[in-house]
Amino acid sequence: MYIAHTIADLRQHMAQFKHPAFVPTMGNLHAGHLALIKQAKPLGDVTVSSIFVNRLQFAPHEDFDSYPRTFNEDCEKLEAAGCNVLFAPTEKDLYPEPQTFKISPPAEVADILEGHFRPGFFVGVSTVVMKLFTCMFSEAEGKRTALFGKKDYQQLMVIQRMVQQFALPIDIVGGETQRADDGLALSSRNGYLSKEERAEAVQLSKALRELAQNYRADANNLAALETKAMQSLANRGWQPDYLTVRRRADLQPPHAGFSSGGQSSDPLVVLGAAKLGKTRLIDNLEF
Ligand code: PAF
Repeated sequence: MYIAHTIADLRQHMAQFKHPAFVPTMGNLHAGHLALIKQAKPLGDVTVSSIFVNRLQFAPHEDFDSYPRTFNEDCEKLEAAGCNVLFAPTEKDLYPEPQTFKISPPAEVADILEGHFRPGFFVGVSTVVMKLFTCMFSEAEGKRTALFGKKDYQQLMVIQRMVQQFALPIDIVGGETQRADDGLALSSRNGYLSKEERAEAVQLSKALRELAQNYRADANNLAALETKAMQSLANRGWQPDYLTVRRRADLQPPHAGFSSGGQSSDPLVVLGAAKLGKTRLIDNLEF
């Protein structure tokens, strides 16, 4: 695996390839990232990843400093998964001067859900992803592909819309969420959980599944069902930010009353974010 640390080095190396398939990450790789690398393999003539913990998407009180950095282990995992090129810039390489030009995604997708509880998060994500795209794909001549996990469902949607509105010639592909045996969605932040918290953590995906089931049974009472789902997690010691049913297409609330059962005919997703101790977890299920 070739490792490029600077934009110039990356561009020079990428000039020999036509169809890169790219998996951006912040490192501390787990089976979810590696599944994306494997999914990327047949989609391009070179499989590329990046590791960069992007300060721009962390609020000052968040975990930028403590975010796990495991570069050597990550390199071994990427090689074993078949990654050909890794872009691993330092902050000075990627942001040689303060990044004052930024991508500002529209409020209707970026200020709801995650964006409501993490103001500025999607500005930071969109800005770094745009910059990574320009570094990664500037030499490519044909099909360019980038893959993002569905665990960050809203992130995937924001990136899809950014690519569409800027007419970037990049196919955005979503990868299924990978889960531990008990159903907990894999995340680098799971490493923050104590043993007891780890055992409890699966309750988030259980609460989401239950909310989806309850919505199927009684679509006219969504607000009450969402409150009940949040309350039952709170009763177990969680601090929920949101548990909610949304349309997959735009993450807006479903219109009830379309079918005989009162349920929306739109494809839906149930999304949740909640803190367990000091660790904030997110998850979602399409239904
Ligand atoms: O999902 C992530 O790991 C990050 O948000 C991303 C897309 C690599 C941008 O920093």
